[in-house]
Amino acid sequence: MKILGTGCANPSCVVTNQMLEGFLDTSDQWITERTGIKERRVMSSERLIDLAVSAANKALADAGVGVEELDFIICSNVVNEYATPAMSCMIQGAIGATCPCLDINAACAGFIFALDMAEDKLRAGKADKILIVCAEEPTRMVSWEDRNTCVLFGDGAGAAVVGQGDAMKAVKLTTASRTDVLYQLRRLEPTPYLQGDHSFAPLVMKGRDVFKTAVSSSTADIKDLLARTGIDSADVKYFVLHQANERIIDSIRGLLGEQPEKFPHNVERYGNTSSASVPILLDELSREGKLQKGDILVLSAFGAGFTTAACIIEWTK
Ligand code: COA
Repeated sequence: MKILGTGCANPSCVVTNQMLEGFLDTSDQWITERTGIKERRVMSSERLIDLAVSAANKALADAGVGVEELDFIICSNVVNEYATPAMSCMIQGAIGATCPCLDINAACAGFIFALDMAEDKLRAGKADKILIVCAEEPTRMVSWEDRNTCVLFGDGAGAAVVGQGDAMKAVKLTTASRTDVLYQLRRLEPTPYLQGDHSFAPLVMKGRDVFKTAVSSSTADIKDLLARTGIDSADVKYFVLHQANERIIDSIRGLLGEQPEKFPHNVERYGNTSSASVPILLDELSREGKLQKGDILVLSAFGAGFTTAACIIEWTK
């Protein structure tokens, strides 16, 4: 597998920490000190499908790949207004593709899970060109009266087109069933036969547990991949980490004994956009001319489940 092109799209509505101070018992200082987030993009006039399609079209243009060349579409999405059909089906129609597609939900680690699935299809000779779109609206999962959660998230979409190549040097996926630390219970229709409690609730998060698990698991994944491949961390150009919290990124960096310059971030502008965060950052780095052919990148993400995923890729564009 290799990445042929990337794209991203974010909602137009910018919500700053100061705006949150207007209706929440919070402060710019608290949010900045604990998370590094200064503002986030939040869905207003647009719909998630609009962002997904925009990111997909930009990635296709960047890759120089026509929709008719696509053999498969994978969409990583936790929540959107449709329970069915899958968002990938809507993306397929909107961009004019005809290939099969499916959605996955590996929470914030979804992009790397999707890269791994794409790699398998490419290796098996079942596909030559695959579109991955990570489209997320976590701001629709939280209560906007809960300062513990709503300040952390933002909406967005990131996409990549991948094709045949050997840029994927190693990948590691983990799942540890810890459903108590981060979850949302959605509303399903009642039936006359249901028994027991079927309440629904906005996102519930045990912040400190998530913080510690994220730091330890992401650090372990990265160390494992570097040891397995024999790649010296000095030869890694960038560690492209899930953008959940600047302090999490900083803690992982400290444990790896690395320099801040190697940990690009945009969490201060977008908040946590779930699985879209890694491809959005990758796209920004690419468009800013910060990636050169041959660069070694480490990608790492973690999310509800608890899922973690990391990979080492060579930038081949
Ligand atoms: N503004 C002001 N105060 C807030 C607040 C906010 N937005 N959110 C929470 N608080 C308060 C809490 O009510 C609590 O007050 P109390 O001690 O009086 O009960 C206190 O701040 C919590 O402080 P603390 O536990 O020290 O916070 P923290 O340093 O652990 O930071 C998080 C909280 C959520 C920022 C941090 O735990 C975190 O980032 N966790 C990971 C979250 C994440 O990344 N989730 C997604 C993973 S994909």
